[in-house]
Amino acid sequence: MIFDTHAHYDDEAFDEDREQLLASFKENGIDAVTNVAASLSSCKTTLELARNHDFMYAALGVHPSESAELSDEGLKDIETWCTERQDGKVRAIGEIGLDYWEEPDKGIQKKWFVAQLDLARRLKLPVIIHSRDAAKDTLDIMKAEHGSDIGGVIHCFSYTKEMAREYLDMGFFLGIGGVLTFKNARKLVETVEYAPLDRLVLETDCPYLSPVPNRGKRNSSLNLTYVADQLAALKGVDRETVEKMTWDNARKLYRL
Ligand code: NI
Repeated sequence: MIFDTHAHYDDEAFDEDREQLLASFKENGIDAVTNVAASLSSCKTTLELARNHDFMYAALGVHPSESAELSDEGLKDIETWCTERQDGKVRAIGEIGLDYWEEPDKGIQKKWFVAQLDLARRLKLPVIIHSRDAAKDTLDIMKAEHGSDIGGVIHCFSYTKEMAREYLDMGFFLGIGGVLTFKNARKLVETVEYAPLDRLVLETDCPYLSPVPNRGKRNSSLNLTYVADQLAALKGVDRETVEKMTWDNARKLYRL
């Protein structure tokens, strides 16, 4: 029983076999998936996917690298999409954050990160945080904005153990995916050994970040067994325990 807490099934990488792939999940032990938007247009495709599949939930928001497209009007649209239907499918605001590898400039990224944190607070939804090469600014904003009152997950956690402690102290979960199986994952291995298992969730970020032995190929939730096995080995428990605990954690994260 696996919960993929972070996937992008509206990506064009799935255009050829999307429905076939999603239909195979149940028999392969993938019982829930949160599809995460990254732009205004993907908010709409994410909503549609969640409405058409019982096991799928939606996170709506704009990724830092797409944040130049945001405006007060765009923000208002996200709010409307989150609230117009009462079917309980929208479970988070995300993915939002800072990515200093990418455009646009820091000022624009920060402005819309803060604005979307504020939206999450008003809507009482958890956040999915994307942060790359921006450890200090992300933490400063999360503290200034009282992230502990909002809650959520730091997706694809890539910083140090010390930084993990800051977010665990704020009540956040850490998203663990394919990177855990990579040879150069020493920093993440340290974090996973340090963090309690009841604060970790499984995620693919598919189509990206496929775990070993499928590294470099298109990723999907079916590959999460490799991540779960690696996590089980590091924590000294069996895979069933990892699946059960990360399932419970994901339901807490998304308040299901
Ligand atoms: Ni993502």
